[in-house]
Amino acid sequence: MPAINRRLVLKERPRFQIPTAKCFRLEEVVIPKPVEGQIRIKTTWLGMDPNQFSKVKKVSDQSKPIDIGAVMYGATVGVVDISNHPDFNAGDVVHGLWGWQEFHVCDGYGITKIANDGLRPSYYLGALGAAGFGAYLAVSDVLKVGRGDVVFCSAATGALGQIVGQLSKSKGAIVYGSASSDEKCNLAVSELGYKACFNYKDQDFERIVSDRIEAGIDAMVVSAGGKTFDATFPIMNVGGCIAVCGLMALYSMSQLPITSDRSFMILNEILLKRLSIKGSMVLDKLNTDVHFQFLSEMKKLINHGEVTPIEHVVEGLENAPDALRGVFDGDNIGKCVVHVAD
Ligand SMILES: NC(=O)c1ccc[n+]([C@@H]2O[C@H](COP(=O)([O-])OP(=O)(O)OC[C@H]3O[C@@H](n4cnc5c(N)ncnc54)[C@H](OP(=O)(O)O)[C@@H]3O)[C@@H](O)[C@H]2O)c1
Repeated sequence: MPAINRRLVLKERPRFQIPTAKCFRLEEVVIPKPVEGQIRIKTTWLGMDPNQFSKVKKVSDQSKPIDIGAVMYGATVGVVDISNHPDFNAGDVVHGLWGWQEFHVCDGYGITKIANDGLRPSYYLGALGAAGFGAYLAVSDVLKVGRGDVVFCSAATGALGQIVGQLSKSKGAIVYGSASSDEKCNLAVSELGYKACFNYKDQDFERIVSDRIEAGIDAMVVSAGGKTFDATFPIMNVGGCIAVCGLMALYSMSQLPITSDRSFMILNEILLKRLSIKGSMVLDKLNTDVHFQFLSEMKKLINHGEVTPIEHVVEGLENAPDALRGVFDGDNIGKCVVHVAD
């Protein structure tokens, strides 16, 4: 019997930005046998990342979209189950970007081995992957957070936000955040290093934020934009710094909002308060010294208990489309990962 690969391919592009389950088709194909110089990987985990929406659009300003009929793009972890390649052995745990499928046959290009360091391999999709690295770049590289700084981060209990909270606290900062429910806000305070977290769905959100963050904000990580940015930007301190990592509030919209021109207010604040604003993207720093430094420091922080990553686990390859959708709907607490196989 030939081995079968179950995979999710893009059936149609989403009407608006965010793909739903009907955009994908589950199909079964025969897996080719790995020839000399190739490996076969059995997928164990898929990572759900907001930036995957840019891969299913017709035209994307972030990266090249995938074709209709192609396997859905995404970060993956798996185990080499057959190796005809000198650099890999059966049993090696690896990560890469082979997407939403149970098996992958390749020549090893773009596949990275995961050291047997006792940490959950799925962390390489979150705390040790793009979200953790994004948080690290924002906190350590762009904002240079230090003792006593007041930090603010939106989507505080998400994959990136949970690391911003814990990492900033480990540096002696006072960290505030926002999230969509009281349950998430309580968790941000009890587990994720936040001094206080505010529910941005509260009618009084803006007033509460400015009343409670009395000392103003020195360093801000923007991962959502919209309402949370509107409430926190005016209380930035003179000389403050903002790292723009992502705009969840924008990605979740079906169309751009019609608003009055706020650019003068924003630019005036930047001028009067001598603010620095920098866009930060992990793509620019992959496999550089700062990436290797991040991996080494984050592993130490996890091993010492200063960072405890939380995962939101969804079972089954077939549930990946709903899991991705859930990241935009705020269903996840911590990094959303899909468990495909052991
Ligand atoms: N620049 C980089 O290199 C880099 C790397 C990784 C991630 N990112 C960015 O960081 C952000 C978070 O990514 P992630 O992987 O950590 O995802 P995540 O936080 O695990 O999940 C996204 C979260 O966004 C929040 N959200 C959804 N719609 C929102 C809205 N309208 N307003 C405010 N919050 C909303 C939800 O939390 P609530 O329920 O609390 O609303 C949801 O849980 C994204 O913008 C992503 O693009 C950037």
